[in-house]
Amino acid sequence: MGLLDGKMGLVFGVANDRSYAAHIASSLTEHGATCGYAHLPGDKNERRTRKAVEKFDSGDLWLHPCDAGSDDELDAIFEAYARQFKRLDFVIHSIAFADREWLRPGAFTDTPRESFLSAIDISAYTIAAMAKRARPQMADSGGGSILGMSYYGSEKVVPGYNVMGVAKACLECTTRYLAAELGEQNIRVNTISGGPLRTLASSAVGGIDKMLEGTPKHAPLRRNIEGNEVGGTAVYLVSDLSSGVTGENIYVDCGVNIIGAAVDD
Ligand SMILES: NC(=O)c1ccc[n+]([C@@H]2O[C@H](COP(=O)([O-])OP(=O)(O)OC[C@H]3O[C@@H](n4cnc5c(N)ncnc54)[C@H](O)[C@@H]3O)[C@@H](O)[C@H]2O)c1
Repeated sequence: MGLLDGKMGLVFGVANDRSYAAHIASSLTEHGATCGYAHLPGDKNERRTRKAVEKFDSGDLWLHPCDAGSDDELDAIFEAYARQFKRLDFVIHSIAFADREWLRPGAFTDTPRESFLSAIDISAYTIAAMAKRARPQMADSGGGSILGMSYYGSEKVVPGYNVMGVAKACLECTTRYLAAELGEQNIRVNTISGGPLRTLASSAVGGIDKMLEGTPKHAPLRRNIEGNEVGGTAVYLVSDLSSGVTGENIYVDCGVNIIGAAVDD
């Protein structure tokens, strides 16, 4: 019997098979969950998401377009999900966006207002926008688990992470405020702070190569993270094993966040 048998939910963020969301959804389905998938609008985006999820999800695939920057599109996907699925046990928020021009070491001070605000909008506000829309069906399902993806650059300065670090701090804080309000309905809200992984989004971060090179040198486990290790923690956070955990940020980064100084050797 799977840990997640009978659980159903919506996954945002599968762009391709390297996406953290693909690793998470693969682990969730392996443990018995049923997932619906959001993709960015457009046939090409739908094809890419379908191709990625077909590798691990053998069920009848349900995909729906959604630009999370649009309230109308968020309304539409949660309404369509509710028509299709009788329960909503989890929402995976594995999306982020910032203009890559401002994700270069030394570029933070010049970040324009519009780029700053759009990073916070798509990367942080959207978890609150999703929680609002998930709440009624999750409450009817007896509660649920909402999970976001963060990174260490929310807490400490990581060269090149820049405005995305500000957005991740906002995401983690938003998670705590959501957790405080939604706990009454047994809805838990947490983030995983994942180690660096080569994906479409991370390729836009100017310092990603240094992060990937530095982790095996400094991390207690002496290696970079594998996507399925984040998937395993997502299974725990969606499952009833974590029924007492909410408002938390769990590091899944081979321990590199505990090392105080980045000593070059
Ligand atoms: N890759 C890493 O090193 C790393 C480390 C820690 C945290 N994260 C976080 O993990 C999450 C997933 O990123 P990833 O690395 O898997 O990259 P990815 O490019 O595979 O995923 C990012 C997703 O965000 C989606 N997205 C962007 N703008 C959107 C919008 N307006 N509406 C809806 N979806 C939108 C994209 O379609 C894509 O699916 C992000 O929150 C990212 O910040 C990544």
